[in-house]
Amino acid sequence: VEALVQSATRAREQAYAPYSGFAVGAALLTDGGDVFVGANVENLSFGLTNCAERSCVFSAVTAGARQFVALVIVTDSSEPVVPCGACRQVLAEFAPDLRVICQNTSGATAEYTIAELLPRPQQGILA
Ligand code: THU
Repeated sequence: VEALVQSATRAREQAYAPYSGFAVGAALLTDGGDVFVGANVENLSFGLTNCAERSCVFSAVTAGARQFVALVIVTDSSEPVVPCGACRQVLAEFAPDLRVICQNTSGATAEYTIAELLPRPQQGILA
């Protein structure tokens, strides 16, 4: 987890957040031991913003990884920040048992599973 925190902290430095001023970094560990990172990427058209969590999932899937075991999110906030609803749904698509570790830059940590954060993910609508 400490290595993931370091990766997420580094990724956070690449956040493009000129509108909110709120930089987020994330690091995702695969079952094969690889780590993919992401940062939030904002847009003048605010709704097009991509959260750090989805950035790292999309990067991992693009590289061929689909089995994930842990996600660390790092924010500079008074409390650790949990993933938004959209990111929870995206994470649940690939990793219903994912460990989600949320940490602020002061070191306060909260840990959940994605199943706890999103008890009833959308599923089964295509069959
Ligand atoms: N943000 C994330 O990247 N992840 C979160 O878990 C919380 C929100 C981003 C979106 C936006 O760029 C900024 O933080 C403020 O909401």
